[in-house]
Amino acid sequence: MTADVPAVVATAEEALDHLERVPAGEQFDLANIFWLPIMVSNGRVLATDDDPEMLALLDRFRHYPTSTGLLHMFPPPRWVPFCERFRNGHNLAVQYRPLLDRLIAARSGAGYVGPRDLIWRLVHAQPRGDDAPLDAAELRDEISTLGSSANTTLRPLVWFWYLLDTHPSVEAKVCAELARVLGGCSPTAEDLPKLAYLRQVFEETMRLYPPVPALLPRRANFLILPWVLHRHRKFRSDPDRFDPERFAPEPAAARSRYCYMPFGSGPHVCVGASLAMMQMIVTAAVLAQRFRFRVVSGQQVEPVAWVNLAPRTGIRVTVEPRRAAA
Ligand code: HEM
Repeated sequence: MTADVPAVVATAEEALDHLERVPAGEQFDLANIFWLPIMVSNGRVLATDDDPEMLALLDRFRHYPTSTGLLHMFPPPRWVPFCERFRNGHNLAVQYRPLLDRLIAARSGAGYVGPRDLIWRLVHAQPRGDDAPLDAAELRDEISTLGSSANTTLRPLVWFWYLLDTHPSVEAKVCAELARVLGGCSPTAEDLPKLAYLRQVFEETMRLYPPVPALLPRRANFLILPWVLHRHRKFRSDPDRFDPERFAPEPAAARSRYCYMPFGSGPHVCVGASLAMMQMIVTAAVLAQRFRFRVVSGQQVEPVAWVNLAPRTGIRVTVEPRRAAA
């Protein structure tokens, strides 16, 4: 994860260049600003280069499923031929198979001298403890699962900027910490543990807006709903209030680990949690030192739970250079 920090910093700095060119007063959906840096940094972590086909795959994952339907819960059986066109996930996997096979083959060859990115690490992993690596189908599944899950990082980033603009005292503390620790520079891996308050803000953001709002344990007939768990008044006072101090070391240590689970828990806990935290903190640290996002007034921000929790019609903002804002 530490090795991936420079790639994430680079994508956040590219976003800065893009924001510099935005005309004053122009309105944007927050997700459209952050989607590109998250997608590009995920692409670089997985496969190093900005492979256009890889980026297209990650972008496609973001839009899958495009709409909610009963068939997502009850997929038609494979033996019903005319239902093939409804099996969107399967068709998508077939469509991207040549790309994944090409990326795997490149990293499997003895002559490969490229970087040891995440796909390389998967190709050379021995997850069963013997010498047997993952076979081609397993590798395709792993890369697809990682690629689609990695999109989740976009969700808390969007809520973070919304909460920052609507809570000026929190914003002031974040800016003071960034100025003290980074002094206008981009963070290095060594700086990240020093951005403790920024981390708390992200933890509190994911408490109020859990990016994965429902967990489905396999073969169980119950759901775990982080949205309910995180806002239950049995576990915390004034649960709907945004207060990053809840995640200061002392209160955090006193809390049960089962009343806060944005990354899930148990054997299927998120394997990308540290990467996601790093991406969020780095992206926020780079951008918040230069810009602030002002939520356009008069819009109704309504969270909607599907695979991820996202604002129903997005969150429109304008962007201001930080110095002018100060
Ligand atoms: C803020 C961002 C993220 C959040 C909130 C999040 C949340 C979660 C949650 C709640 C689960 C458990 C689902 C369940 O129990 O049914 C999960 C699983 C998973 N996540 Fe994440 N995730 C994030 C980012 C990422 C990233 C960046 C990656 C990959 C690079 C990733 C890869 C995975 C994978 C592969 C699983 C399945 C683990 C398994 O079933 O063994 N996630 N994530």
